[in-house]
Amino acid sequence: VEGTGSLLNFRVAAMNLGTDDLMEAYKDSARKLVESAETFSGYRKKNPKILALHASSHRTSNTYALWSAVKEKLLQEEEGRENPDIREIGLRNGTLYDCSGCSFNACRHFGEQESCFYGGVIVEDVYPAVREADAVVMICPNYNDAISANMTAFINRLTALYRIRQFYDKAVFAIIVSGYSGNDTIARQLISAMNMNKNFYLPGRFAMLETANDPGTAVRLPGIQARIESFADRIRQTLIL
Ligand SMILES: Cc1cc2nc3c(=O)[nH]c(=O)nc-3n(C[C@H](O)[C@H](O)[C@H](O)COP(=O)(O)O)c2cc1C
Repeated sequence: VEGTGSLLNFRVAAMNLGTDDLMEAYKDSARKLVESAETFSGYRKKNPKILALHASSHRTSNTYALWSAVKEKLLQEEEGRENPDIREIGLRNGTLYDCSGCSFNACRHFGEQESCFYGGVIVEDVYPAVREADAVVMICPNYNDAISANMTAFINRLTALYRIRQFYDKAVFAIIVSGYSGNDTIARQLISAMNMNKNFYLPGRFAMLETANDPGTAVRLPGIQARIESFADRIRQTLIL
């Protein structure tokens, strides 16, 4: 459990517990961590729900094309094999606003109603889908060595839901494509935001990283079919009993 010298990073956790005793909040977090380590038995189940989030054009996007190929593998019927339920939501321009940084109390007030000040697609579609999901797949092109604005807005808007529930029981996966370089930077940003900050479970080798620029080129990279299959297998082994 990460505590700064002043324990000021436990201010919100303390408020959530209805106290101003930062040490109490710190100990509560440590206790919960030990409890979850002791009781952890994996998250695998028969028909896990996967939520794929993207902000890409179906027609031209390299990241979306790779996801489509991974999804096809995940849904491939095989005798005696369980498949996941997959839902996709597109977060393209105009469908969502970024977080407006409401006060803690306002954010918690909306969060308690599973809502957020801005409402819209995030509250109506995305929050319920995240709540139900066993894993989220972040489909992330590299835009200026950063997660794109729409995908970042999704992460920011998750904060209201995070006020009232943790995401420990959900895995995060990612498909990342850069035109030239920087896949590692995007992967690190996702680990920071989704795992370290929002507590999503981080499976080993959680991301598929590819380098392709022109539309349609990612799915034609040398050896790509084997990597698509191996990524789909990894998702399967993490989530399916
Ligand atoms: C606004 C913008 C910024 C980009 N910045 C970078 C960058 O910093 N580094 C890089 O390697 N590629 C960069 N690219 C290239 C994309 O990562 C690359 O074209 C990728 O295939 C896009 O995936 P998509 O087709 O799913 O959108 C950028 C592309 C756009 C449109």
